[in-house]
Amino acid sequence: MDNEKATSCSFPGDISTERFLREYWQKRPLLIRNAFPDIQSPLTPDELAGLACEEDVNARIVFERHERGPWHVVHGPLTEADFSDLPDTHWTLLVTDVEKHVPAARELIDRFRFIPDWRIDDLMISYAPEGGSVGPHTDAYDVFLIQVHGQRRWMINENHDNACIEGLELRILQRFSASKAWVLGPGDMLYLPPNVAHHGIAINECMTCSVGFRAPSYSNIISEYAENIAMRIDEKLRYRDPDLECQRNPAEITAAALERIRSIIADQLTVNDDSLVRWFGAYCSESRSGTHAVPPERTFAGYHDLTVSLLTHHCIRQSPAAKFLFAGIGNSTLLFVDGNSYPTSRRFASTIAANRSISAQQLIEAVSSNADQQALLELYHNGYLLIE
Ligand code: SIN
Ligand code: CO
Repeated sequence: MDNEKATSCSFPGDISTERFLREYWQKRPLLIRNAFPDIQSPLTPDELAGLACEEDVNARIVFERHERGPWHVVHGPLTEADFSDLPDTHWTLLVTDVEKHVPAARELIDRFRFIPDWRIDDLMISYAPEGGSVGPHTDAYDVFLIQVHGQRRWMINENHDNACIEGLELRILQRFSASKAWVLGPGDMLYLPPNVAHHGIAINECMTCSVGFRAPSYSNIISEYAENIAMRIDEKLRYRDPDLECQRNPAEITAAALERIRSIIADQLTVNDDSLVRWFGAYCSESRSGTHAVPPERTFAGYHDLTVSLLTHHCIRQSPAAKFLFAGIGNSTLLFVDGNSYPTSRRFASTIAANRSISAQQLIEAVSSNADQQALLELYHNGYLLIE
């Protein structure tokens, strides 16, 4: 439990975490001046451009004006040529999932662990010269917009007109007028709940970090859960009607047939705790960005060999590409990493999932069963744990 307490953190700013959650989270916008005093961008503009050119990185450039039309998007992986002929103003480079590649970005996003890990999606970094923006829009999830370099004017409206400009790849609001506006400088942060219209225009060369959250749609939850259940249903189970009675019109789908179908759906989709936890843990921990941990070159024959090696090193770190979550299931615990599940003790799961890095000694102390030993070995061999 102590490990869990030590890693969740408090709201960055003058108000308490409890007050932020009670009065603002999912409810109303909040501007916090100097939320991160002395903040430094996790990447320089050149480093961000370099990252945007890597194969497994999600990047794009949004041009407000372009020969192909307004709000044109060029998708990554970008090349040097994409950067060689950029206009002086009115474009934005955006790179998502930066924390999966850059340790300093992971440290920044971890300042938001007052929200559960499974709800935190990614850290996006944008770079824009003067006039750069991605247009007035809404996001379907909460976002913290942290200014890390230069100045950006943010305008918002909570009662906006939803109509978007037709024929564009981006969803840009057709009519946007600001009800509130602020200029944010380095260290300032703006929190927006879902669906608040916002428009941020770079006043000068600026960089903004956005912490985005995961809010799965009902439709996605239902389709993913049902698909997961469907995969496990025995193919031999088929519609049966041994009680079939002769019907007057053969073309009619009778109430009796519909009742048999209704009860198949109701029986199979009855949510039991076990299937819910197993599915949801795997669903939330699975990588959505396409970035996966890389298995190590060095392997170990068993737990004993692994611990001997671990103890000669200082610390064990979670791979930044792997999401660690855990949940109770009856009297036991399941640890989830990148869509896989491991039955372990609660102490092991909570220790390893809560700490981005931990001393080998502390980690080994949390191992209390054969299942924990097995899980640790597999986590290492899958590349989810890095020995440093
Ligand atoms: C940006 O960083 O320019 C855009 C972020 C957002 O509007 O969500
Ligand atoms: Co936005």
